Amino acid sequence: MVYRGAVDAVVVGGGLVGCLVARALVAAGLGVALIERDAELGSRASTAAAGMLSPQMEAAEGLLAESSARAETMLTFCLAGRDRYPSLVESLSRETGLEIEYRARGTLVVATEPTRAGVLATAAAAHAARGLAAEFVDHDAARRLEPSLAAGIEGGLLLPDDHQVDAVALVGAAARAVAAEPQVRLEVNCRVVGVDTAAGRVTGVRTERLDGATDYQAANLVVVAAGAWSGSVEGLPRRLDVLPVKGQMVAVDGRVAGLTHTVGGHGAYCVPRGDSRVLIGATVERAGFDVTVDETAIEGLVAAAAEYVPVLKHADRLRAWAGIRPGTPDALPIVGPDPDIGGLVYATGHYRNGILLAPITAEAVAALAIGLEPPVDLAPFAPDRCTDTLQGVGGG
Ligand code: GLY
Repeated sequence: MVYRGAVDAVVVGGGLVGCLVARALVAAGLGVALIERDAELGSRASTAAAGMLSPQMEAAEGLLAESSARAETMLTFCLAGRDRYPSLVESLSRETGLEIEYRARGTLVVATEPTRAGVLATAAAAHAARGLAAEFVDHDAARRLEPSLAAGIEGGLLLPDDHQVDAVALVGAAARAVAAEPQVRLEVNCRVVGVDTAAGRVTGVRTERLDGATDYQAANLVVVAAGAWSGSVEGLPRRLDVLPVKGQMVAVDGRVAGLTHTVGGHGAYCVPRGDSRVLIGATVERAGFDVTVDETAIEGLVAAAAEYVPVLKHADRLRAWAGIRPGTPDALPIVGPDPDIGGLVYATGHYRNGILLAPITAEAVAALAIGLEPPVDLAPFAPDRCTDTLQGVGGG
């Protein structure tokens, strides 16, 4: 076992959340080891994502439910994530010289039948009552906004502040920024096989590289940001209830549709990109860590999208793929300190909102690391709400 020089913090997982956490810790004055199992940073869920920055769309119906507390909590956290995006994109582009498509064109959630249109109209009022931009638009107005919408559209919920970002470009820039950071020691093809503690505090992690070599990395802070794989990080004092939730997507040639907004509808969403692709997503499947793409699922997505944008039915299909979201039993993320082990912090379980929540999560973790109040209340995201404590794990 090789003993690596101590760092202030180890970040376990190099997806977008891990990269932004590492960057925020460096900005707070810490030296960081960023440990990624795969050969490249961000090669899993982060680059599979559609990049929707759409807290209001995600919350639209939850806010109307009788028990809307969960939706309200999530909305507040997600809005804080959305607020960080313009400056995140600007700073990453400036640091790396890479272009990141951040498309500030809003989202339109459409209804193809009257009952659903009624729900969207009520949702518009619920958002407006919270001071958020939202408007119900009728059939004609919806088709003026998006002329390729189906003739049978009943109306839509226009959310002018729910934007989107090219997740692949964003993750590429975040990865380049951390790789270039002198205060970050980057280890790829490397997994954590033990988290060591002494007197109730983290002391470091044991790692194993692809070739079987083992290292010991001393640190007083360990941040678990391994997405859907967070539950399988060895040596944690609790079993994290992070569940893999598969999402399949397809990119089509979207020139036929000419969409401007992200368009959401029953069973699928459509995310138009500047290069004229439209990403159609996404399935929600409990299939373990399987990332195979199946034609039936892709057909189902295209058919669902074609219900409201008919020309997409015959659009050329360019590529299909799948990613694994980190789900949790209550669909809230797991962000905050371990209640029993000092210096152990979780930043995972972001489910459908990993891209959106990455910057606010990073900011919160960095605040915890240096003893400041996090910018949002993390109590609803407490790690012990959906975990079992494991006996006899850890130790020096
Ligand atoms: N953020 C949308 C999805 O996970 O499908």
